[in-house]
Amino acid sequence: MKIKRYMAVGIVSCMLLLFFCGCGKQQPKVSEKIQVGVAFYNQGDTFLGELVACLKQQFEKFGNSGLEITVMVRDAAGSQRTQDDQVEELIGMKCNVLCVNLVDRADPSEIIDLARKNDVPIIFFNREPVAEDMMQWEKLYYVGADAQQSGEMQGELAVDVIAGNQQIDKNRDGKIQYVVLEGEAGHQDAIIRTESAVDTLKSSGIVLEKLGAGIANWDRAQAQNRMQQLLSQYPNQIEMVLANNDAMALGAVDAYEKLNYTEGAMPVFFGIDGTEAGLEAVIDRKVAATVYNDKEGQALAMAKLAVGAVTGAGLETLAFENEKYIYLPYQKVTEDNVREFLY
Ligand code: BGC
Ligand code: CA
Repeated sequence: MKIKRYMAVGIVSCMLLLFFCGCGKQQPKVSEKIQVGVAFYNQGDTFLGELVACLKQQFEKFGNSGLEITVMVRDAAGSQRTQDDQVEELIGMKCNVLCVNLVDRADPSEIIDLARKNDVPIIFFNREPVAEDMMQWEKLYYVGADAQQSGEMQGELAVDVIAGNQQIDKNRDGKIQYVVLEGEAGHQDAIIRTESAVDTLKSSGIVLEKLGAGIANWDRAQAQNRMQQLLSQYPNQIEMVLANNDAMALGAVDAYEKLNYTEGAMPVFFGIDGTEAGLEAVIDRKVAATVYNDKEGQALAMAKLAVGAVTGAGLETLAFENEKYIYLPYQKVTEDNVREFLY
């Protein structure tokens, strides 16, 4: 009787053991080894270069805390076709999670299909896919920042500077003559930043007169060109330059410097991002103020999310909106607090 009981217990234990060991086969321990594929739209983009560098650092930190993490980075050089191929290659190399900065934010379907077929979660970042595409699969996430907030902050900074300095209205007509340098057409941050900055200025009682605008695709050299064109039309009338990012604000400054404008004849410039060069320009008083695009916070959220999406651990520490989105807040940067942002 006793022997039979021992045998029964023994058989059940063996069955349980086999069950938990995956029927005798060695199961891969995904939680210990993570391969991350990072695909970004263009390495010529200053902010993206800094953001991807931060992301690599964050993954290294996670790697030091016991997880084995490999990161493979691919630059699409501005071509969605190239990026689709790169994602296929990364999946072929057994990446178990992807961080994707789309070239064309309206065209993620091929990447989503590939990832879904292979069950590889995607964290989109910085270039936000449209909502319908984000609904295509439950393992799609987005990490970025709220464009409207950055525009409002740029507007508020401009209000403060204008209110504190009568010299800005150079022709003393009670209006601020301004131009806008815009990012890529169709990018969530371009149109919204411009609109909300201008609305904020207007609603705080500042009278504006728009002289012109130019699309400079986030790029310093293109912004210098656009600004030179605007200057040939309005050589001495421009009192303020609102740029959708720091690189373009700096390109506008380059244009004035190249044409040897004196400091007193220059307008005030406002940027967004707080890139290394942008922060330096605030210290040097070339750019009046900028808005910090929290690349460290975005990189940390992406690293946590990547690890969580693969291992299932730590997701509860992330502040999701609608279960898929993480937006890091912007911060205003002026001469007074700029040093807090230098790392
Ligand atoms: C940044 C720009 C950058 C763009 C790229 C924006 O959020 O402010 O500097 O060029 O993203 O997608
Ligand atoms: Ca004026």
